[in-house]
Amino acid sequence: MTYILAIDQGTTSTRAIVFDAQMKIVTSAQEEFKQHFPASGWVEHDPIDLWTTTLSTCKAAVADAGLTMGDITAIGITNQRETTLVWDRQTGEPVHNAIVWQDRRTADICRILKTEGHEPLITETTGLLLDPYFSSTKVKWILDHNEGLHARARLGQLAFGTVDSWLIWNLTGGKRHVTDATNAARTMLYDIHKGKWSSRICDLLDIPQAMLPEVLDCAADFGTTDAGIFGAEVPILGVAGDQQAATIGNACFEPGMLKSTYGTGCFALLNTGDTPVTSKNRLLTTIGYQLDGKPTYALEGAIFIAGAVVQWLRDGLGIIENASETQALAEQADKAQDLILVPAFTGLGAPYWAPDCRGAVYGLTRGSGPAEFARAALESVGFQTRDLLEAMHGDMGEGADAKLRVDGGMTASDWAMQFLADITGAPVDRPTVLESTALGVAWLAGMRAGVYPDQDGFAATWALDRTFEPKMQEPFREDKYAAWKRAVQATLSV
Ligand code: G3P
Repeated sequence: MTYILAIDQGTTSTRAIVFDAQMKIVTSAQEEFKQHFPASGWVEHDPIDLWTTTLSTCKAAVADAGLTMGDITAIGITNQRETTLVWDRQTGEPVHNAIVWQDRRTADICRILKTEGHEPLITETTGLLLDPYFSSTKVKWILDHNEGLHARARLGQLAFGTVDSWLIWNLTGGKRHVTDATNAARTMLYDIHKGKWSSRICDLLDIPQAMLPEVLDCAADFGTTDAGIFGAEVPILGVAGDQQAATIGNACFEPGMLKSTYGTGCFALLNTGDTPVTSKNRLLTTIGYQLDGKPTYALEGAIFIAGAVVQWLRDGLGIIENASETQALAEQADKAQDLILVPAFTGLGAPYWAPDCRGAVYGLTRGSGPAEFARAALESVGFQTRDLLEAMHGDMGEGADAKLRVDGGMTASDWAMQFLADITGAPVDRPTVLESTALGVAWLAGMRAGVYPDQDGFAATWALDRTFEPKMQEPFREDKYAAWKRAVQATLSV
């Protein structure tokens, strides 16, 4: 029997999913872990939490399937991207908490680099914009703020990695310090055209190359789990950042194909084939996946708060107990009220890139209550997706498919998906498997192991659950969207 274990280390939880020979989910286990907010706009994770929740969820998922690790053919790892870890190569001890992708503490470093005129070099080389979102300024911050770390880094005593590298390092008992091209592409240190670390950017930020992991394809030999950890040596054969894994899982293999994933944030990726397209609309150019040494590029729009807005309804406002209540509450909202929520809790991502901006609510009346907030929260995700699609169509014109494939937790809400179709004015395709991220990386590992189909065979297994067709009248849609744009502009100007 064939089983593939996918590890999905995300921003708020770690999951492990066992897939069978037919790429069907057998079992899964999930654990949330603590979020640390040491200062306004700062977000950290304890690296040990990332590691221990990985271990326990893997063990739980495998045991629930009635298996042992020896039954697992291969492991695939997908992860929250950009989140930055630095550890001691000798002891394996992290030198600082992981600085999470949402963390804005390096906004000043970015501002200075921008003022000094370095953004063109960074964008031309890495495809990214100068924003605290990416790893490199976070690495610089860790080295600058902890005494002696620059010297240790220069001597090769420290290792930097995104979460995939950290997990692989631990799973292999410290034998492998590697990453894949999609994660490397999010560090703001990687030359996505030449396929190697950029010495110019490393020098600019004073980050020694001795810290950096080796970069491999998404389906490659990332090492074997140390027998002492799971009691079996299991090869790690697939790695991709979570949004790229979702692009693969949604089988967006043709140029023009487009997917949008709704997790903590929302990330839309448009496959641009072997051409790295430079955006005129402040989108990112990134590596969608890399197989057999050949990168496939993508245009990406990143929104920082999507599912997290529902968490805020639950944990911040306390107006729901479970995320699943949001849709029913939104449906009760007063149609006469136009509450608009701009959820810039950690700044705004694409296409605005405003790290210091904070959220706002417009249109409050004495009648505004939980239902109106729930609707405004769900609608904010649709509005932001339209912002991304407008930017993509601006860059690609007819080269971008009209149809959008979606995945992630929030896509289970019919209401949210209908609003998405309505406000974008385009059909939304929801697949039968909403676990595209885990499926994508399971496929990478299983394909590399020779037990799953090739790319075409895999694409043929993608199945549609439902298409949401736009139903909103165009004038109404455009009025609503114009109100959103005004709300964003007002928020940006505060
Ligand atoms: O770029 C950040 C992204 O990879 C995080 O994804 O699913 O943890 O919100 P998620």
